[in-house]
Amino acid sequence: LGRVPVAVRLRATWFSGKMRPMEYRVAQLEALGRFLDEKKQDILEATAADMGRVRGGLGTGGPHAEFTEILLCKNELHETLNNLSRWMKDKHVDKNLVTQLDSAFIRKDPYGVVLIIAPWNYPIYIILVPLIGAIAAGNCVIVKPSEMTKNSERLVAEALPSYLDNDCFAVVTAGVQETTRLLENKFDYIFFTGSPSVGRIVMAAAAKHLTPVTLELGGKNPCYVSDTCDVQNVARRVAWGRFYNAGQTCIAPEYVLCSVEMREKLLPALHKAITDFYGPKPQESPDFGRMVGDKHFQRVQTLLRSGRAVIGGQTDEKDRYIAPTVLVDVQPSDPIMQEEIFGPVLPIVTVANVDEAIDFINSRERPLVVYAFSSDDKVVNQVLERTSSGGFCGNDTLMHVTLTSLPFGGIGNSGMGMQHGKFTFDTFTHHRGCLHRGMGREALIALRYPPYSQQKLGLVRAAAGRVGPWWLVVAPRSRLWGERG
Ligand SMILES: *[C@@H]1O[C@H](CO)[C@@H](O)[C@H](O)[C@H]1NC(C)=O
Ligand SMILES: *[C@@H]1O[C@H](CO)[C@@H](O)[C@H](O)[C@H]1NC(C)=O
Repeated sequence: LGRVPVAVRLRATWFSGKMRPMEYRVAQLEALGRFLDEKKQDILEATAADMGRVRGGLGTGGPHAEFTEILLCKNELHETLNNLSRWMKDKHVDKNLVTQLDSAFIRKDPYGVVLIIAPWNYPIYIILVPLIGAIAAGNCVIVKPSEMTKNSERLVAEALPSYLDNDCFAVVTAGVQETTRLLENKFDYIFFTGSPSVGRIVMAAAAKHLTPVTLELGGKNPCYVSDTCDVQNVARRVAWGRFYNAGQTCIAPEYVLCSVEMREKLLPALHKAITDFYGPKPQESPDFGRMVGDKHFQRVQTLLRSGRAVIGGQTDEKDRYIAPTVLVDVQPSDPIMQEEIFGPVLPIVTVANVDEAIDFINSRERPLVVYAFSSDDKVVNQVLERTSSGGFCGNDTLMHVTLTSLPFGGIGNSGMGMQHGKFTFDTFTHHRGCLHRGMGREALIALRYPPYSQQKLGLVRAAAGRVGPWWLVVAPRSRLWGERG
């Protein structure tokens, strides 16, 4: 780990063991809490400026950002502080006959020096949630915020180090090239949130050092709407999930699957929901965001060529504004159905029934979340049982992410590993299997030593007949490992 000076500093701290005591971890977590309290206004302004949520004055980066960037982080922090002593404790486990008098336990060891790479779409939240777990688990942490969101990046780089112990913690600002070099260092764990394509690069770099990874990636999250449900409620819940943060949310519903009949009912309901939320001119709404950058704006604008816009469709390049848009007549092969949209555009794809919807979902990469709406529980359960995805939410969107009791993470193309609450702590914890034995009782143990006589073997067989584990304990090593000769 010699290339980046901060990495050298953190490695030295790791060997010193400074971050292991619980009191130390708690103090650092409490400092994170102070960062959230004291810098709240700065955080809201930075994220609002980055995500174009600000419309003259403070506008609303406002309640929007406060919920995700501040409240959800505090929620994680409280949960962690309340439970840390329990999570950290050695877990004593079942023993076999020969270890009855010994001590067998799982030690919750930190990994060491870990790297957290965050994306731009929730510039504080997606850094802090893994950071809380990494500190709680006793690691030294290097954080790399996204270079796309300059205001948040600066805030994190300048303010966070004044709260945390810099022996154990560092912020590295880096673009693509510097990040590539950063990844050449040997870390003990890498936690990456971002796109599947960059996830592959990170995992390949990690493979060189056999470094374990968590990859929180995106995907195209399907949202099945059955023929029986309260259409207006569904429309509000889907529109909220899709247009929150102008669609730049990894768990947003990416497209709706429903019958032609439901589509005809859903369209006016979606129109009403969008107007209720953002008024007749969403561009003037303080609650509707902008595309994070020009490149991103152009990419989403190009995607609008798929299908036909029946709601929205307007764009304004100077303002990086894309109206809340609903598309129909979208073909599964259209570009908008190939890549993650990550913008305020909702295509509706029609299917004949729930079976066809399930086939459609299963013919594609596994998404981060599957949504299903129906007033019939059987339909929701059918979608749950016959599909595979990182998470699932029935009858609503996004809300599963707010529970720290649920693991959050992807599967297949949407990632690997999990976070939130204790799951983040466990992600950054090596579960070290430990056995402390007494030095006595040698006569009992002698059975396992060569030379092996028929008499010994007989004893072993008799014992194994009753208590399986004996066999393993006394079996010659060569036979245990299946070696020859
Ligand atoms: C964390 O602690 C709270 C009480 O402070 C408790 O209700 C909750 O179940 C705990 N969570 C875990 C995962 O242990
Ligand atoms: C979905 O919502 C409907 C209407 O409130 C309800 O009848 C149904 O039980 C819900 N389904 C699930 C799986 O909770």
